[in-house]
Amino acid sequence: MKKTAFITGCTGQDGALLSAYLLGKGYYVHGLKRRSSSPNTERVDHLYQATQVKDRRFFLHYGDMTDATNLLRLLNEVRPDEIYNLAAQSHVHVSFETPEYTANVDAMGPLRLLEALRILKLDAKLYQASTSELYGNSGPCPQSETTPFAPCSPYATAKLYAYWITLNYRQAYGLHASNGILFNHESPLRAQTFVTRKITQEVAKIYHGTSDCLYLGNLNAKRDWGHAQDAIEGMWRIVQQAQPGDYVLATGQSHTVRSFVELAFSHIDIPIIWEGEGLHELGRHAHTGKVHIRIDPRYFRPNEVHHLCGDASKARRELGWSPRIRFEELVAEMMKADIEKGLRGACAP
Ligand code: NAP
Ligand code: GDD
Repeated sequence: MKKTAFITGCTGQDGALLSAYLLGKGYYVHGLKRRSSSPNTERVDHLYQATQVKDRRFFLHYGDMTDATNLLRLLNEVRPDEIYNLAAQSHVHVSFETPEYTANVDAMGPLRLLEALRILKLDAKLYQASTSELYGNSGPCPQSETTPFAPCSPYATAKLYAYWITLNYRQAYGLHASNGILFNHESPLRAQTFVTRKITQEVAKIYHGTSDCLYLGNLNAKRDWGHAQDAIEGMWRIVQQAQPGDYVLATGQSHTVRSFVELAFSHIDIPIIWEGEGLHELGRHAHTGKVHIRIDPRYFRPNEVHHLCGDASKARRELGWSPRIRFEELVAEMMKADIEKGLRGACAP
């Protein structure tokens, strides 16, 4: 029998990729979408259209993680086999500006889902989108499932509550509820306010002559950047386990923002040299001397996580999961997509 999945955050990067992945496996997919005054379903519109005529398996429902009765009603109607809770105010920097809202969505949202499962006595498996941000600057790299958590932002603190409440409900009520502790994962669908997509989009504009300078914050932060498609497969494998659990999904390699910038510019044949320090640091075209990167203090965070790099040994061992797409391939794919979008005169999402 075909399985049914309920995906919160289905209009985001991961939600769109997961929807396509599960539809490809024959699932019925029900996604939660927020009411918005401008379109917010671009990432999934093609899936909706493709499954409307003969094979109606993709459904979108209005809802919000802050609305418990909405979630309760939808879960009662849909009665899914699997729930993927991907919805979140997912921007770390923005969480310093909207800490209460972030807590409401990212901490209380998962609690609302868990309570709905308990109240409805639904026998569904739940995936909670946990994050490497939980580690903060807590200790040595690489970080694994046993590394202590030390969240450094309202986002990470809210996600810490979500992590523990998921584990608590698993232990207290026997729910099949799992945490995927995912390190940064990107794709051409990544929103433009995250650093990787911001870089590839601006470098593509520089290539097309519609921009000449990229403004960034901390160039020295290091992240374990993987491909979102690999992350999606890991999420699904976590949910298929006979027993619930908590798993790190990561590549095990980290790179600085600076090296991401250099690699992106290399795709348009611009070698970058760096000059100066701190706020006065510049990135110049090594041959023409033209300034292409400047520092803007607006992009510094009140508290920064310096280095994230994950150890996914447990996922390799128990899920048979390992990332397939290398960092260089990820950057190449994102650059190609943004250059092509520029040729078509499109830029979002
Ligand atoms: P994303 O692109 O920002 O997508 C977030 C999704 O959540 C969007 O569909 C958004 O709707 C929805 N959403 C936000 N607030 C909501 C609310 N109040 N009610 C209902 N839906 C709401 O994030 P992503 O990169 O796909 O990440 C998916 C999940 O994984 C998030 O929980 C994130 O925190 C977590 N995570 C991501 C990464 C990563 O590197 N990508 C790593 C670790 C963990 P709109 O489209 O309407 O904005
Ligand atoms: N966004 C952004 N914009 N970040 C910048 C910029 C800039 O202009 N300049 C430098 N950075 C640095 C940030 O300070 C951070 O150290 C790093 O680039 C990555 O920032 P983001 O791409 O915004 O991602 P993130 O690591 O903070 O959070 C992402 O990954 C988490 C998992 O580790 C998000 O997807 C979170 O939802 C996710 O949990």
